[in-house]
Amino acid sequence: MAVDSPDTSVKDRVRALVAAHRGDRGALLPILHRIQEEFGWVDQEIVPVLAAELNLSRADVHGVITFYSDFRSEPAGRTTIKLCRAEACQSVGAEQVVSHAEQVLGIKVGQTTSDGSVTLEQVFCLGNCALGPAAQVNGRVLGRVDAKRLDAILVTETVSS
Ligand code: FES
Repeated sequence: MAVDSPDTSVKDRVRALVAAHRGDRGALLPILHRIQEEFGWVDQEIVPVLAAELNLSRADVHGVITFYSDFRSEPAGRTTIKLCRAEACQSVGAEQVVSHAEQVLGIKVGQTTSDGSVTLEQVFCLGNCALGPAAQVNGRVLGRVDAKRLDAILVTETVSS
């Protein structure tokens, strides 16, 4: 999506998604999830389009986007790494993995490296508790992700992306 103004095809796609949910109660949330799925982020420039189409205020739409941490306000990196910080993974060293990742990548959780290669995110349980610390790399759930394995993942993912 363009930063200054979403192009016509994006606007048309947003309008098509709205049309598919027309009449649904609470349509905004599923529409935003579809936008995030399709584009990888939710451009603030589509807020007026959504507001007009759903007969909501821009503040309402903006409020929902910013309330849910699932919605990205900028494009993700080529590789997205989500590190589990829930209790079971914490008990086997998840926080050390998070600290290591932040140090190696030079970013904090929720940020993307300046070269656009990696986005680092946190998640609270991936359903892989028995194999913690767990991580999800571009949608693939991995277990036993300690600092050493994370380094190997970063080499593989950033070289291949
Ligand atoms: S607590 Fe980390 S996968 Fe469940």
